Amino acid sequence: MRSYYIAGNWKMHKTVAESVALATELKDKLASCGEKVLIAPAFTALSAVAVVVKGTNIMLGAQNMGPEEQGAHTGEVSVLMLKDLGVRAVILGHSERRHSYFETDELVNRKLLLALKHGIEPILCVGETLEEREGNRLEEVVGTQVRKGLTGVAAVELAKVTIAYEPVWAIGTGKTATPEDADAVHAFIRKEVKALYGEAAAKSLCIQYGGSVKADNAAQLMAKPNIDGALVGGASLKAETFVPIARFR
Ligand code: PGA
Repeated sequence: MRSYYIAGNWKMHKTVAESVALATELKDKLASCGEKVLIAPAFTALSAVAVVVKGTNIMLGAQNMGPEEQGAHTGEVSVLMLKDLGVRAVILGHSERRHSYFETDELVNRKLLLALKHGIEPILCVGETLEEREGNRLEEVVGTQVRKGLTGVAAVELAKVTIAYEPVWAIGTGKTATPEDADAVHAFIRKEVKALYGEAAAKSLCIQYGGSVKADNAAQLMAKPNIDGALVGGASLKAETFVPIARFR
């Protein structure tokens, strides 16, 4: 049976103690969950949460990383530091990074290649703003983010990459793309990936949807043929809202 990939992005929330408490609750409540589950706490909580999820079915993720292995990069966290803590995946190019911290496709791509080099699975976030959607630029914007984000990724490495489609207007706003609209963009992303890597790679690519995913819309979204999982922000901050998403079926 197809397994879905459900990731929780805790963003800039929770102290170490709060993160440990949530991870402990999730570990127990998701012990028999058959989906692939990831939680991405803040950097400061990674090492404590790593201890909680070690040996469980919950993977540890980071929300970002620096584009270099090491060096004079004040304020950055390196892929080697993340690996050292047991981090297995990293969210890259989140719209908050792109829009509030001016991350470009080129920068996101450098990070993505570095993550793959060190065996950390990247989640490449793409998505259009409302203005871009209304200006009929969705395909141009998302297509460019996909192509530039994947530049230099070898075909054999693509299986480790997840793409998260997150329409910017749906993040944290309570507005969700309809399952039909989201599925159409996912199909477009698959078509772009097919042009780059061929049909088989495009078919097996995992594409998550993100943007106000909740327990009551998760099942409808995931029922769509091109939606393979969810990247969850707000609803990932409490076990009572995240567990039902991970257990949507
Ligand atoms: P949201 O965030 O679920 O709060 O809309 C999603 C995300 O930013 O990944």
